[in-house]
Amino acid sequence: MSKPKLLVTHPLFEAPRLKLLDKFDAEFWTEPGRPPRAEVLRRVADKEALICLLTEAVDEQLLAAAPKLRMVANVAVGFDNIDLEACTRRGVAASNTPGVLDETTADFAWALLLAVARRLLEGDALARSGQWKGWNLDQLCGADVWGKTLGILGLGRIGQAVARRARGFGMRILYNDAQRARVEVEQALGAEYAERDALLAQADFLTLHVPLLPETRGLIGARELAKMKPTAFLINTSRGPVVNEAAVIAALENKTIAGAAFDVYEREPKISDGLRRLNVVLAPHLASASLETRTKMAMMAAENVIALLEGRRPPNILNPAALEGRKSQ
Ligand code: DGY
Repeated sequence: MSKPKLLVTHPLFEAPRLKLLDKFDAEFWTEPGRPPRAEVLRRVADKEALICLLTEAVDEQLLAAAPKLRMVANVAVGFDNIDLEACTRRGVAASNTPGVLDETTADFAWALLLAVARRLLEGDALARSGQWKGWNLDQLCGADVWGKTLGILGLGRIGQAVARRARGFGMRILYNDAQRARVEVEQALGAEYAERDALLAQADFLTLHVPLLPETRGLIGARELAKMKPTAFLINTSRGPVVNEAAVIAALENKTIAGAAFDVYEREPKISDGLRRLNVVLAPHLASASLETRTKMAMMAAENVIALLEGRRPPNILNPAALEGRKSQ
């Protein structure tokens, strides 16, 4: 019996690759870099399943180019690259990778927070330059982190993992979320709910952990930045378009805020020139990039595809209605 055809837009890691090769007639993108759009559209044409990264738009055009497609597995927890409504309408199941990257992403949010507060990159540059003349009392003095107020926008799994780490720094933790957390969760984290504007006004560090949705696009713009303390820092490891980059650049120029650290950008991989400043730490979308976690994410995507093509419900399905649609076809 012929095996189902699968397109994977990345070579993945060995364990998930071997697992997929065992079950499917799997075609992997193995060239350096991301596949050009035309190549994805051409290769997906005869496939029943697609494993893709957040760099691939799964939209009407792709779905129309893949009439046999039954499943799209995103190797990411965020799925703003997938038109879920279009998938559901066409009976294409979609999945993501929740849970496995929370702690790794929280670690990285903290790495950015500490780096920008304590001027780590400037220190690293000085130490490497051969120009360091020795210890000096006022050399590269940054801001304390311990004992300060952390503002968390979005207290989902990643926001909570960030909050757990803040306790070790003796911080006051404020959060805001569309849905208020249960009292037990607030108590366990030592986190207080605050209205968004009150949180913006009090936070020494503002860290973003919301998904990209129509209502979170541009969540942090000129109005919000104006409410922040001039000594405060903004950290974004969520999705670039949650922040209006032009407004952040203006706020940095006007010293409305003290600094920022970004892992994600409004128009990735383009990074606005105005962000290239000493008081901004820039990373290229790395928050979940530990080998352990990225391997788990790839394995999870593989398991979702295997489940669907073996007639089981994919464990991380985002649009169960797509399965109903198929049954009734
Ligand atoms: C995600 O999973 O959504 C991240 O942005 C990449 O790990």
